[in-house]
Amino acid sequence: VRIKVAKIAVAGTGYVGLVAGVCFAEVGHQVTCVDIDENKVELMKSGISPIYEAGLEELMQKNYAAGRLEYTTDYKSAYHEADAIFIGVGTPEQPDGSANLSYIATVARQIAETIEKDCLVVVKSTVPVGTNDKVEQFIHDFLPREGEKLTGNGDGVGRNIRVEVASNPEFLAQGTAVRDTLQAARIIIGTESKWAEDILMKIYEPFNIPIVSVQRRSAEMIKYASNDFLALKISYMNDIANLCELVGADIGDVARGMSFDERIGSKFLNAGIGYGGSCFPKDTKALEYLARQNGYELKTVKAAIDVNTDQKIVLYRKASKRLITFNGLKVAVLGLTFKPGTDDLREAASLENVPLLLDHGAEIYAFDPVGKSNFSKKYPEGRNGNGSIKYVENIKEALEGANVCFIFTEWGEIRETTPEVYKELMRTPLVYDGRNLYGVQDMREAGVEYYSIGR
Ligand code: UGA
Repeated sequence: VRIKVAKIAVAGTGYVGLVAGVCFAEVGHQVTCVDIDENKVELMKSGISPIYEAGLEELMQKNYAAGRLEYTTDYKSAYHEADAIFIGVGTPEQPDGSANLSYIATVARQIAETIEKDCLVVVKSTVPVGTNDKVEQFIHDFLPREGEKLTGNGDGVGRNIRVEVASNPEFLAQGTAVRDTLQAARIIIGTESKWAEDILMKIYEPFNIPIVSVQRRSAEMIKYASNDFLALKISYMNDIANLCELVGADIGDVARGMSFDERIGSKFLNAGIGYGGSCFPKDTKALEYLARQNGYELKTVKAAIDVNTDQKIVLYRKASKRLITFNGLKVAVLGLTFKPGTDDLREAASLENVPLLLDHGAEIYAFDPVGKSNFSKKYPEGRNGNGSIKYVENIKEALEGANVCFIFTEWGEIRETTPEVYKELMRTPLVYDGRNLYGVQDMREAGVEYYSIGR
């Protein structure tokens, strides 16, 4: 199939930007990824991905070799040739729950100062509803008028340039980012003109995925409404799980029973120690904040946030009742990342539990197949407050002689560890499982004292 190749620049090479850029190149477009970090750009040129993401490096190397994918710190050259500039920079959460838009603003200004021809600016980052209107206004305010000297390039002068901003939210999940992009369930584009809509339609044509074309504000809202719905779904299951424990029901069976109703669906029904990551926690708080700003109380989303905050330490609470103190106990911690398949620790339950355990004197032996290097930046190996932490290379080392074990992430190798292993290796086989990896009966039969979620 012959496609119309677009010249695309992508600002920001985090999860959103890099994966988008690589996938645009993969379907045949000409892509330049822009990042301010020299080292990162050099790394990417050598075929190494700055993020841990299955399948990404292969596609980076393949498309770089084919000449469809470039990396640079020189945003000027990248922007002024582009038909479309995708913005994928971060929008981190601020203390009040609102999104920090300063990175977006910086890119918007750089775009305004450098572009010399008509160009569509596409915001992929998750931004509060109404932000794209502001970004467009911002670019227009900075755009050199006809005859005015360009600040960015030095040599040229301003012409009448058409610049519009479109919303194109991203729905990839970490760990499955490439697949989620190349085989997305839908592509959402939010535009305010036929011109902008056409450009995005052409860019996405080779993906062969249903495109939902709406107005800009609706597109922005679709992103939040989708993520917050999923967060709500998880918090709802956690809430029900806690009740299951009190009334003697089993959340696993309850979820299975519910899943056959197509209106409910079978996904995202897993109760556990709450949702983490860079998206659900941030996007729930941001929408709640947006509602408050508009004089509305978003009660459902607020409830999801509250349930999640409590859920993260539900096992710690149980264990501290049972053990009275962690002082001097060897505590095995299995899993540090917010989910398997990523080295990301943002909002991971481990970050709530480890400091509590250390405060109370625990001698932690932590195992995670990829999370160790990020985690040890926050909690260096050795003595830490009243306790200590040691990072071990395998599950066996973590469990050997342990008084208690916490499971925070459902990594494959943890799931495959049989109940007998806990019984054999631990000094006292006492396990708090935040991911419901084992059958309650199986653990009991193996002689393990076992606590999980909602059973
Ligand atoms: C999430 C969404 O799933 C993506 O669709 C979205 O594009 C992305 O946010 C984003 O906004 O960028 P992600 O945060 O990478 O993706 O991870 P998920 O796989 O959704 O998991 C989020 C958290 O929910 C994890 O801590 C996971 O353990 C937890 N979870 C998930 C549960 O506790 N129970 C479940 O049933 C499912």
